[in-house]
Amino acid sequence: MILPISIIGTAVLRKKAEIVTPDYPGLKELIDNMFETMYKSDGVGLAAPQVGESLRLFVVDAAPMTDDDNDVFTKSFKRVFINPEIIEIFGENCSYQEGCLSVPGLHENVVRKDGIKIKYLDENFLPKEETLTGPASRVVQHEFDHLEGILFTDKVGMLRRKLIKNKLANISRGKFERSYKVKLA
Ligand code: NI
Repeated sequence: MILPISIIGTAVLRKKAEIVTPDYPGLKELIDNMFETMYKSDGVGLAAPQVGESLRLFVVDAAPMTDDDNDVFTKSFKRVFINPEIIEIFGENCSYQEGCLSVPGLHENVVRKDGIKIKYLDENFLPKEETLTGPASRVVQHEFDHLEGILFTDKVGMLRRKLIKNKLANISRGKFERSYKVKLA
């Protein structure tokens, strides 16, 4: 089932999300719906708060982030992250143009460290630990921020942030081109 995506200005996007328990009702269905919604809207990641569920859960499929068929890791980087914890951030500062399904039509450069080490539970609640760099690290850091109530627009440079202020206000009021189902505040 396609779920409506909450747009910037919606309260759930600014809440710190709650820990997920294995008995959370309808969890498997929620994960399936999140993948379906993400693919339908051409996203590479989707966090539960973006579909109105304040839960520490996100899904990613980084395949569209690379054109390099030899980059097998990114091409096959499809994951479910439950209760993730970033245990290390390392490497160079990298600037990369990010977008977000909750902020339609806006793309801005965001500086993040290249690498992370992350602990999480997969869809079967099995503990995992991975060290990520490049596109996989980028999308996971972006999605992780959603669980903390942080949007990528909070992280753009101060000058750009001032320049996009009105644009963000317009987006929150629904002034953008619809290409997927959305929910406004
Ligand atoms: Ni996002």
